[in-house]
Amino acid sequence: GAVVAAVVGGGVVACNGVSVSAVDVPVTFDAALPVPPLAPSQVDADGTRTFELTAQEGTTQFVEGVDTPTWGFDGDLLGPTLRANRGEQVAVTVRNELPEPTSVHWHGMHLPAAMDGGPHQEVAPGATWRPTWQVDQPAATLWYHPHPHGRTEEHVYRGLAGFFLLDDPQARDVGLPHTYGVDDVPVVVQDRNLERDGTLDLEGGELGVLGSLVTANGVRGAHLPVTTQRVRLRLLNGSTARTYAFGLADDREVLQVATDGGLLPAPVPTTRVQLSPGERAEVVVTMTPGETVRLRSFRPELGRIAAGFAMGAQDEFDVLELRAAAELAPSPQVAPALTTLAPLSADDATVTRSFDLQNREINGLRMDMGRVDETVQVGATEVWEVRNLDAFPHNFHVHDVQFRVADIDGAPPPPALAGAKDTIYLEPRRTYRLVMRFEDHADPDVPYMFHCHLLLHEDEGLMGQFVVVEPGGAAKPDGAAGTPP
Ligand code: C2O
Ligand code: CU
Repeated sequence: GAVVAAVVGGGVVACNGVSVSAVDVPVTFDAALPVPPLAPSQVDADGTRTFELTAQEGTTQFVEGVDTPTWGFDGDLLGPTLRANRGEQVAVTVRNELPEPTSVHWHGMHLPAAMDGGPHQEVAPGATWRPTWQVDQPAATLWYHPHPHGRTEEHVYRGLAGFFLLDDPQARDVGLPHTYGVDDVPVVVQDRNLERDGTLDLEGGELGVLGSLVTANGVRGAHLPVTTQRVRLRLLNGSTARTYAFGLADDREVLQVATDGGLLPAPVPTTRVQLSPGERAEVVVTMTPGETVRLRSFRPELGRIAAGFAMGAQDEFDVLELRAAAELAPSPQVAPALTTLAPLSADDATVTRSFDLQNREINGLRMDMGRVDETVQVGATEVWEVRNLDAFPHNFHVHDVQFRVADIDGAPPPPALAGAKDTIYLEPRRTYRLVMRFEDHADPDVPYMFHCHLLLHEDEGLMGQFVVVEPGGAAKPDGAAGTPP
Protein backbone atom coordinates (compact mmCIF):
# COMPACT_ATOMS: atom_id res chain seq x y z
CA GLY A 1 0.00 0.00 0.00
CA ALA A 2 0.99 3.64 0.29
CA VAL A 3 4.02 3.64 2.48
CA VAL A 4 4.87 6.71 4.52
CA ALA A 5 8.23 5.30 5.44
CA ALA A 6 9.24 4.70 1.86
CA VAL A 7 8.89 8.29 0.80
CA VAL A 8 12.35 9.28 -0.32
CA GLY A 9 13.51 12.85 -0.66
CA GLY A 10 10.08 14.16 0.29
CA GLY A 11 9.37 16.34 3.24
CA VAL A 12 6.16 15.88 5.07
CA VAL A 13 3.24 13.60 4.33
CA ALA A 14 -0.24 14.37 5.52
CA CYS A 15 -1.73 11.64 7.63
CA ASN A 16 -5.26 11.91 8.91
CA GLY A 17 -4.78 15.61 9.43
CA VAL A 18 -1.55 15.06 11.32
CA SER A 19 1.74 16.10 9.80
CA VAL A 20 3.92 13.04 9.54
CA SER A 21 7.62 13.42 9.02
CA ALA A 22 8.73 10.82 6.54
CA VAL A 23 11.68 8.83 7.72
CA ASP A 24 14.10 10.55 5.39
CA VAL A 25 13.57 13.76 7.31
CA PRO A 26 16.73 14.28 9.39
CA VAL A 27 16.49 12.44 12.65
CA THR A 28 17.47 14.40 15.75
CA PHE A 29 18.68 11.62 18.07
CA ASP A 30 17.23 13.70 20.90
CA ALA A 31 15.32 10.87 22.55
CA ALA A 32 17.25 8.85 25.11
CA LEU A 33 17.50 5.18 24.19
CA PRO A 34 14.95 3.29 26.26
CA VAL A 35 16.55 0.38 28.06
CA PRO A 36 14.17 -2.56 28.43
CA PRO A 37 13.38 -2.98 32.13
CA LEU A 38 14.66 -6.10 33.86
CA ALA A 39 11.71 -8.44 34.35
CA PRO A 40 10.91 -9.00 38.01
CA SER A 41 11.09 -12.61 39.15
CA GLN A 42 10.22 -14.61 42.22
CA VAL A 43 12.25 -17.48 43.60
CA ASP A 44 10.06 -20.24 45.05
CA ALA A 45 10.93 -22.45 47.96
CA ASP A 46 12.35 -25.07 45.58
CA GLY A 47 14.63 -22.45 44.03
CA THR A 48 12.75 -21.95 40.76
CA ARG A 49 13.05 -18.41 39.43
CA THR A 50 9.66 -17.52 37.94
CA PHE A 51 8.95 -14.69 35.54
CA GLU A 52 5.67 -13.52 34.08
CA LEU A 53 5.15 -12.31 30.53
CA THR A 54 1.89 -11.11 29.04
CA ALA A 55 1.52 -10.69 25.28
CA GLN A 56 -0.82 -7.77 24.71
CA GLU A 57 -2.00 -5.13 22.27
CA GLY A 58 -0.81 -1.55 22.50
CA THR A 59 0.06 1.65 20.67
CA THR A 60 3.45 3.10 19.76
CA GLN A 61 4.47 6.43 18.26
CA PHE A 62 7.34 5.56 15.93
CA VAL A 63 6.70 8.93 14.31
CA GLU A 64 5.77 11.78 16.64
CA GLY A 65 2.03 12.35 16.76
CA VAL A 66 1.17 9.20 14.83
CA ASP A 67 -0.31 6.27 16.73
CA THR A 68 0.68 2.88 15.39
CA PRO A 69 -1.09 -0.19 16.80
CA THR A 70 1.62 -2.57 18.03
CA TRP A 71 1.99 -5.62 20.23
CA GLY A 72 4.28 -6.07 23.20
CA PHE A 73 5.04 -8.13 26.27
CA ASP A 74 3.90 -6.36 29.44
CA GLY A 75 3.66 -3.15 27.43
CA ASP A 76 3.01 -1.58 24.05
CA LEU A 77 6.11 -2.80 22.21
CA LEU A 78 8.95 -5.28 22.78
CA GLY A 79 9.31 -6.78 26.26
CA PRO A 80 11.28 -6.73 29.49
CA THR A 81 14.72 -8.38 29.77
CA LEU A 82 14.67 -11.74 31.48
CA ARG A 83 17.91 -12.59 33.26
CA ALA A 84 19.01 -15.81 34.92
CA ASN A 85 22.13 -17.62 36.08
CA ARG A 86 23.66 -20.73 34.66
CA GLY A 87 22.44 -23.69 36.70
CA GLU A 88 19.20 -22.02 37.79
CA GLN A 89 15.79 -23.58 37.33
CA VAL A 90 13.60 -20.98 35.63
CA ALA A 91 9.90 -20.85 34.81
CA VAL A 92 7.91 -18.31 32.85
CA THR A 93 4.19 -17.78 33.16
CA VAL A 94 3.20 -16.71 29.67
CA ARG A 95 -0.22 -15.15 29.31
CA ASN A 96 -1.79 -14.46 25.92
CA GLU A 97 -4.05 -11.41 25.87
CA LEU A 98 -3.90 -11.09 22.09
CA PRO A 99 -6.95 -11.80 19.93
CA GLU A 100 -5.23 -14.83 18.37
CA PRO A 101 -2.93 -17.72 19.35
CA THR A 102 0.75 -16.98 19.82
CA SER A 103 3.75 -18.71 21.39
CA VAL A 104 7.00 -17.65 23.03
CA HIS A 105 10.20 -19.27 21.80
CA TRP A 106 13.44 -18.93 23.80
CA HIS A 107 15.82 -18.34 20.91
CA GLY A 108 19.28 -19.80 21.58
CA MET A 109 18.25 -21.67 24.73
CA HIS A 110 19.21 -25.27 25.33
CA LEU A 111 16.05 -26.79 26.81
CA PRO A 112 13.52 -29.62 26.45
CA ALA A 113 11.47 -29.48 23.25
CA ALA A 114 8.18 -29.23 25.15
CA MET A 115 9.45 -25.96 26.74
CA ASP A 116 10.84 -24.50 23.51
CA GLY A 117 7.84 -22.36 22.58
CA GLY A 118 7.70 -23.30 18.92
CA PRO A 119 4.56 -23.91 16.85
CA HIS A 120 3.73 -27.01 18.91
CA GLN A 121 3.37 -24.95 22.09
CA GLU A 122 0.89 -22.31 20.99
CA VAL A 123 -1.01 -20.43 23.68
CA ALA A 124 -4.67 -19.73 22.93
CA PRO A 125 -6.14 -16.27 23.53
CA GLY A 126 -6.85 -15.92 27.25
CA ALA A 127 -4.74 -18.96 28.07
CA THR A 128 -1.56 -19.34 30.11
CA TRP A 129 1.51 -21.53 29.49
CA ARG A 130 4.21 -22.20 32.08
CA PRO A 131 7.39 -23.75 30.69
CA THR A 132 10.18 -24.57 33.14
CA TRP A 133 13.76 -25.68 32.55
CA GLN A 134 17.25 -25.59 33.99
CA VAL A 135 19.63 -23.09 32.44
CA ASP A 136 22.55 -25.20 31.29
CA GLN A 137 24.82 -23.22 28.99
CA PRO A 138 27.41 -20.44 29.08
CA ALA A 139 26.56 -16.78 29.64
CA ALA A 140 24.97 -15.33 26.52
CA THR A 141 22.65 -12.76 24.99
CA LEU A 142 19.58 -14.75 24.00
CA TRP A 143 16.14 -13.48 23.10
CA TYR A 144 12.51 -14.51 23.02
CA HIS A 145 9.84 -14.04 20.39
CA PRO A 146 6.61 -15.68 19.16
CA HIS A 147 6.74 -18.68 16.85
CA PRO A 148 3.11 -19.49 15.95
CA HIS A 149 2.58 -21.66 12.90
CA GLY A 150 2.61 -19.47 9.78
CA ARG A 151 2.32 -16.24 11.77
CA THR A 152 5.79 -15.63 13.19
CA GLU A 153 6.70 -12.77 10.86
CA GLU A 154 3.62 -10.76 11.73
CA HIS A 155 3.89 -11.35 15.48
CA VAL A 156 7.53 -10.26 15.63
CA TYR A 157 6.93 -7.34 13.26
CA ARG A 158 4.07 -6.10 15.42
CA GLY A 159 6.57 -5.80 18.25
CA LEU A 160 6.76 -9.04 20.23
CA ALA A 161 10.42 -9.60 21.16
CA GLY A 162 12.67 -9.27 24.19
CA PHE A 163 16.10 -10.18 25.56
CA PHE A 164 16.92 -13.17 27.74
CA LEU A 165 20.35 -12.69 29.27
CA LEU A 166 22.21 -15.59 30.81
CA ASP A 167 24.99 -15.06 33.35
CA ASP A 168 27.58 -17.48 34.63
CA PRO A 169 28.57 -16.70 38.23
CA GLN A 170 31.50 -19.14 37.89
CA ALA A 171 33.01 -17.39 34.89
CA ARG A 172 36.15 -15.38 35.48
CA ASP A 173 36.15 -11.59 35.23
CA VAL A 174 37.44 -10.66 31.79
CA GLY A 175 36.96 -6.92 32.11
CA LEU A 176 33.65 -6.59 30.30
CA PRO A 177 31.37 -3.73 31.31
CA HIS A 178 28.42 -5.25 33.15
CA THR A 179 26.21 -2.61 34.73
CA TYR A 180 22.87 -3.14 33.02
CA GLY A 181 21.55 -0.09 31.25
CA VAL A 182 24.66 1.97 32.11
CA ASP A 183 27.69 0.43 30.39
CA ASP A 184 26.08 -2.86 29.37
CA VAL A 185 23.17 -2.09 27.11
CA PRO A 186 20.92 -4.37 25.07
CA VAL A 187 20.02 -2.88 21.68
CA VAL A 188 17.44 -4.57 19.46
CA VAL A 189 17.39 -3.17 15.94
CA GLN A 190 14.28 -3.52 13.81
CA ASP A 191 12.87 -1.98 10.65
CA ARG A 192 9.30 -1.30 9.68
CA ASN A 193 7.17 0.55 7.17
CA LEU A 194 4.07 2.53 8.03
CA GLU A 195 0.93 3.02 6.03
CA ARG A 196 -0.37 6.56 5.59
CA ASP A 197 -2.80 6.04 8.45
CA GLY A 198 0.05 5.09 10.76
CA THR A 199 -0.71 1.37 10.84
CA LEU A 200 2.06 -1.11 10.16
CA ASP A 201 2.58 -1.98 6.52
CA LEU A 202 2.78 -5.75 6.50
CA GLU A 203 3.42 -6.18 2.80
CA GLY A 204 6.88 -7.04 1.62
CA GLY A 205 8.65 -8.67 -1.27
CA GLU A 206 10.54 -11.91 -1.74
CA LEU A 207 12.51 -11.36 1.49
CA GLY A 208 9.67 -10.00 3.55
CA VAL A 209 9.29 -6.42 4.71
CA LEU A 210 12.36 -4.22 4.26
CA GLY A 211 11.43 -1.14 6.21
CA SER A 212 13.07 2.23 6.14
CA LEU A 213 11.94 3.15 9.64
CA VAL A 214 14.81 1.68 11.62
CA THR A 215 14.57 1.63 15.40
CA ALA A 216 16.81 0.84 18.36
CA ASN A 217 14.79 -0.53 21.27
CA GLY A 218 11.68 0.68 19.46
CA VAL A 219 12.83 4.27 18.94
CA ARG A 220 14.01 5.86 15.72
CA GLY A 221 16.84 8.33 16.29
CA ALA A 222 17.72 7.64 19.91
CA HIS A 223 20.93 8.41 21.75
CA LEU A 224 22.71 6.59 24.52
CA PRO A 225 24.30 8.81 27.17
CA VAL A 226 27.71 7.22 27.81
CA THR A 227 29.24 7.81 31.24
CA THR A 228 32.07 5.28 31.18
CA GLN A 229 35.21 4.91 29.06
CA ARG A 230 33.90 1.73 27.52
CA VAL A 231 30.39 0.60 26.78
CA ARG A 232 29.21 -2.89 25.88
CA LEU A 233 26.39 -3.09 23.36
CA ARG A 234 24.46 -6.33 23.09
CA LEU A 235 23.21 -6.07 19.53
CA LEU A 236 20.24 -8.13 18.38
CA ASN A 237 18.92 -8.12 14.84
CA GLY A 238 15.23 -8.37 15.69
CA SER A 239 14.16 -7.60 12.14
CA THR A 240 12.06 -10.01 10.16
CA ALA A 241 14.10 -9.77 6.93
CA ARG A 242 16.83 -7.14 6.91
CA THR A 243 20.52 -7.89 7.43
CA TYR A 244 22.59 -5.13 9.07
CA ALA A 245 26.31 -4.46 8.91
CA PHE A 246 26.92 -2.43 12.05
CA GLY A 247 29.88 -0.15 12.54
CA LEU A 248 30.67 3.25 13.93
CA ALA A 249 30.25 6.17 11.56
CA ASP A 250 33.92 7.16 11.87
CA ASP A 251 35.02 3.59 11.14
CA ARG A 252 36.88 3.16 14.41
CA GLU A 253 37.45 -0.38 15.59
CA VAL A 254 35.24 -1.96 18.19
CA LEU A 255 35.93 -5.21 20.00
CA GLN A 256 33.49 -7.95 19.23
CA VAL A 257 33.47 -10.09 22.37
CA ALA A 258 30.50 -12.40 21.92
CA THR A 259 28.33 -13.99 19.32
CA ASP A 260 24.92 -15.73 19.52
CA GLY A 261 25.81 -18.33 22.13
CA GLY A 262 28.26 -16.42 24.30
CA LEU A 263 31.81 -15.14 24.55
CA LEU A 264 34.33 -15.57 21.77
CA PRO A 265 37.66 -17.13 22.73
CA ALA A 266 39.33 -13.73 22.27
CA PRO A 267 38.06 -10.24 21.42
CA VAL A 268 37.91 -9.61 17.68
CA PRO A 269 38.86 -6.04 16.68
CA THR A 270 36.61 -5.08 13.80
CA THR A 271 34.94 -2.19 12.01
CA ARG A 272 31.86 -4.17 10.88
CA VAL A 273 29.56 -6.57 12.65
CA GLN A 274 27.10 -8.12 10.25
CA LEU A 275 23.95 -9.64 11.68
CA SER A 276 21.20 -11.38 9.76
CA PRO A 277 17.75 -11.74 11.39
CA GLY A 278 17.95 -13.45 14.78
CA GLU A 279 21.73 -13.14 15.20
CA ARG A 280 23.38 -11.34 18.12
CA ALA A 281 26.79 -9.85 18.81
CA GLU A 282 28.29 -8.12 21.82
CA VAL A 283 30.70 -5.31 21.11
CA VAL A 284 32.77 -3.08 23.38
CA VAL A 285 33.15 0.52 22.21
CA THR A 286 35.82 2.82 23.63
CA MET A 287 34.82 6.48 23.89
CA THR A 288 36.70 9.68 24.60
CA PRO A 289 35.16 12.34 26.87
CA GLY A 290 32.65 14.65 25.24
CA GLU A 291 32.55 12.98 21.85
CA THR A 292 29.56 11.86 19.84
CA VAL A 293 29.60 8.98 17.39
CA ARG A 294 26.82 7.14 15.64
CA LEU A 295 26.25 3.44 15.35
CA ARG A 296 25.47 2.97 11.70
CA SER A 297 24.35 0.08 9.60
CA PHE A 298 26.38 0.01 6.38
CA ARG A 299 25.67 -1.91 3.20
CA PRO A 300 25.80 -5.59 4.15
CA GLU A 301 27.96 -8.16 2.35
CA LEU A 302 25.38 -10.64 1.15
CA GLY A 303 27.46 -12.68 -1.26
CA ARG A 304 26.49 -13.52 -4.80
CA ILE A 305 22.88 -12.47 -4.73
CA ALA A 306 20.95 -11.49 -7.84
CA ALA A 307 20.31 -7.85 -8.62
CA GLY A 308 17.06 -6.67 -7.11
CA PHE A 309 17.49 -8.55 -3.85
CA ALA A 310 19.50 -5.89 -2.08
CA MET A 311 18.27 -4.62 1.25
CA GLY A 312 16.01 -1.99 -0.25
CA ALA A 313 16.60 1.36 -1.90
CA GLN A 314 18.37 2.63 1.17
CA ASP A 315 21.05 0.49 2.73
CA GLU A 316 22.72 2.82 5.23
CA PHE A 317 21.00 3.82 8.44
CA ASP A 318 22.12 5.65 11.55
CA VAL A 319 20.75 3.50 14.30
CA LEU A 320 21.89 5.05 17.56
CA GLU A 321 24.02 7.98 18.69
CA LEU A 322 26.55 7.43 21.45
CA ARG A 323 27.04 10.64 23.43
CA ALA A 324 29.96 10.62 25.83
CA ALA A 325 29.79 12.79 28.94
CA ALA A 326 32.48 15.42 29.51
CA GLU A 327 34.03 13.12 32.06
CA LEU A 328 33.99 9.35 31.78
CA ALA A 329 34.38 6.92 34.62
CA PRO A 330 37.28 4.52 34.03
CA SER A 331 36.49 1.06 32.64
CA PRO A 332 38.63 -2.03 32.99
CA GLN A 333 40.69 -3.33 30.06
CA VAL A 334 39.08 -6.15 28.14
CA ALA A 335 41.17 -9.28 28.74
CA PRO A 336 43.02 -10.74 25.72
CA ALA A 337 41.41 -14.15 26.36
CA LEU A 338 37.70 -14.34 27.16
CA THR A 339 36.72 -17.97 27.40
CA THR A 340 37.60 -21.50 26.41
CA LEU A 341 35.01 -23.02 24.13
CA ALA A 342 33.99 -26.59 24.86
CA PRO A 343 35.62 -28.84 22.27
CA LEU A 344 33.28 -29.53 19.36
CA SER A 345 34.94 -30.82 16.23
CA ALA A 346 33.65 -32.14 12.94
CA ASP A 347 36.11 -35.02 13.40
CA ASP A 348 33.95 -36.32 16.24
CA ALA A 349 30.76 -36.34 14.22
CA THR A 350 29.13 -39.68 13.56
CA VAL A 351 26.29 -38.38 11.40
CA THR A 352 26.27 -35.92 8.49
CA ARG A 353 23.05 -34.43 7.19
CA SER A 354 22.51 -32.09 4.25
CA PHE A 355 20.05 -29.24 4.09
CA ASP A 356 19.47 -27.51 0.78
CA LEU A 357 17.40 -24.35 1.06
CA GLN A 358 15.58 -23.33 -2.05
CA ASN A 359 12.69 -20.95 -2.33
CA ARG A 360 10.37 -22.12 0.47
CA GLU A 361 11.63 -25.69 0.73
CA ILE A 362 14.34 -27.55 2.59
CA ASN A 363 15.48 -30.63 0.66
CA GLY A 364 12.42 -30.22 -1.53
CA LEU A 365 9.91 -30.18 1.32
CA ARG A 366 7.85 -27.48 2.93
CA MET A 367 7.26 -27.43 6.67
CA ASP A 368 4.63 -29.92 7.81
CA MET A 369 3.67 -29.91 11.49
CA GLY A 370 2.86 -33.61 11.24
CA ARG A 371 6.15 -34.70 9.64
CA VAL A 372 9.40 -35.29 11.49
CA ASP A 373 12.24 -34.58 9.07
CA GLU A 374 15.23 -35.68 11.11
CA THR A 375 15.65 -38.05 14.04
CA VAL A 376 18.74 -37.42 16.13
CA GLN A 377 20.17 -39.68 18.80
CA VAL A 378 20.80 -38.11 22.15
CA GLY A 379 24.52 -37.70 22.77
CA ALA A 380 25.35 -37.57 19.07
CA THR A 381 27.75 -35.12 17.50
CA GLU A 382 26.60 -34.27 13.99
CA VAL A 383 27.64 -32.21 11.01
CA TRP A 384 24.87 -30.35 9.24
CA GLU A 385 25.86 -29.22 5.76
CA VAL A 386 23.71 -26.28 4.83
CA ARG A 387 23.40 -24.60 1.44
CA ASN A 388 21.39 -21.71 0.05
CA LEU A 389 20.59 -22.70 -3.54
CA ASP A 390 18.76 -19.45 -4.26
CA ALA A 391 20.22 -16.23 -5.57
CA PHE A 392 18.75 -14.28 -2.65
CA PRO A 393 19.44 -14.23 1.08
CA HIS A 394 18.51 -16.97 3.54
CA ASN A 395 19.90 -17.81 6.93
CA PHE A 396 19.69 -20.92 9.08
CA HIS A 397 18.68 -21.31 12.71
CA VAL A 398 18.66 -24.51 14.75
CA HIS A 399 16.70 -24.81 17.99
CA ASP A 400 18.07 -26.40 21.18
CA VAL A 401 21.77 -26.30 20.31
CA GLN A 402 24.60 -23.87 19.85
CA PHE A 403 26.63 -25.03 16.88
CA ARG A 404 30.13 -24.25 15.70
CA VAL A 405 31.01 -23.39 12.10
CA ALA A 406 33.50 -26.06 11.04
CA ASP A 407 34.12 -24.50 7.65
CA ILE A 408 32.60 -22.52 4.81
CA ASP A 409 33.39 -24.01 1.40
CA GLY A 410 36.16 -25.90 3.17
CA ALA A 411 37.80 -22.81 4.65
CA PRO A 412 37.87 -21.99 8.35
CA PRO A 413 35.28 -19.38 9.39
CA PRO A 414 36.29 -15.76 10.02
CA PRO A 415 37.07 -15.03 13.72
CA ALA A 416 33.64 -13.48 14.39
CA LEU A 417 31.99 -16.75 13.34
CA ALA A 418 34.39 -18.90 15.36
CA GLY A 419 32.20 -19.01 18.44
CA ALA A 420 28.94 -20.59 19.57
CA LYS A 421 26.22 -19.82 17.02
CA ASP A 422 22.55 -20.66 16.65
CA THR A 423 21.83 -18.66 13.51
CA ILE A 424 24.03 -18.06 10.48
CA TYR A 425 23.72 -16.09 7.27
CA LEU A 426 23.94 -18.25 4.16
CA GLU A 427 25.61 -16.68 1.18
CA PRO A 428 24.15 -18.25 -1.95
CA ARG A 429 25.96 -21.27 -3.33
CA ARG A 430 28.30 -21.82 -0.41
CA THR A 431 28.44 -24.87 1.83
CA TYR A 432 28.36 -24.18 5.55
CA ARG A 433 29.39 -27.17 7.67
CA LEU A 434 27.96 -26.77 11.16
CA VAL A 435 28.95 -29.05 14.05
CA MET A 436 26.54 -29.61 16.91
CA ARG A 437 26.07 -31.94 19.81
CA PHE A 438 22.68 -33.05 21.12
CA GLU A 439 23.55 -33.47 24.78
CA ASP A 440 20.27 -34.48 26.36
CA HIS A 441 16.50 -33.82 26.42
CA ALA A 442 15.40 -36.86 24.42
CA ASP A 443 11.66 -36.71 23.73
CA PRO A 444 10.31 -38.62 20.74
CA ASP A 445 6.96 -36.83 20.90
CA VAL A 446 7.92 -33.19 20.54
CA PRO A 447 9.99 -31.80 17.66
CA TYR A 448 12.40 -28.90 17.60
CA MET A 449 12.60 -26.63 14.54
CA PHE A 450 15.31 -25.65 12.10
CA HIS A 451 14.55 -22.90 9.62
CA CYS A 452 15.38 -19.74 7.77
CA HIS A 453 15.06 -16.78 10.17
CA LEU A 454 13.83 -14.47 7.42
CA LEU A 455 10.45 -14.88 9.00
CA LEU A 456 8.35 -14.68 5.85
CA HIS A 457 10.35 -17.61 4.48
CA GLU A 458 9.88 -19.54 7.71
CA ASP A 459 6.13 -18.88 7.68
CA GLU A 460 5.86 -19.93 4.05
CA GLY A 461 7.49 -23.29 4.65
CA LEU A 462 11.28 -22.92 4.85
CA MET A 463 11.38 -24.88 8.09
CA GLY A 464 11.75 -28.49 9.19
CA GLN A 465 11.45 -30.52 12.38
CA PHE A 466 13.81 -32.80 14.27
CA VAL A 467 13.31 -34.93 17.33
CA VAL A 468 15.95 -36.10 19.78
CA VAL A 469 15.50 -39.74 20.84
CA GLU A 470 17.23 -42.25 23.10
CA PRO A 471 19.47 -44.68 21.21
CA GLY A 472 17.19 -47.10 19.38
CA GLY A 473 14.21 -44.79 19.81
CA ALA A 474 12.01 -43.48 17.04
CA ALA A 475 9.95 -40.39 16.50
CA LYS A 476 6.22 -40.78 16.81
CA PRO A 477 5.57 -41.78 13.19
CA ASP A 478 2.59 -39.50 12.66
CA GLY A 479 3.98 -36.66 14.74
CA ALA A 480 0.49 -36.46 16.18
CA ALA A 481 1.57 -36.14 19.78
CA GLY A 482 3.19 -32.84 19.04
CA THR A 483 0.37 -31.27 17.09
CA PRO A 484 -1.51 -28.54 18.92
CA PRO A 485 -5.10 -29.28 19.96
CU1 C2O B 1 14.19 -17.24 16.60
CU2 C2O B 1 12.71 -20.85 15.40
O1 C2O B 1 13.37 -18.94 15.99
CU1 CU C 1 15.07 -17.49 3.77
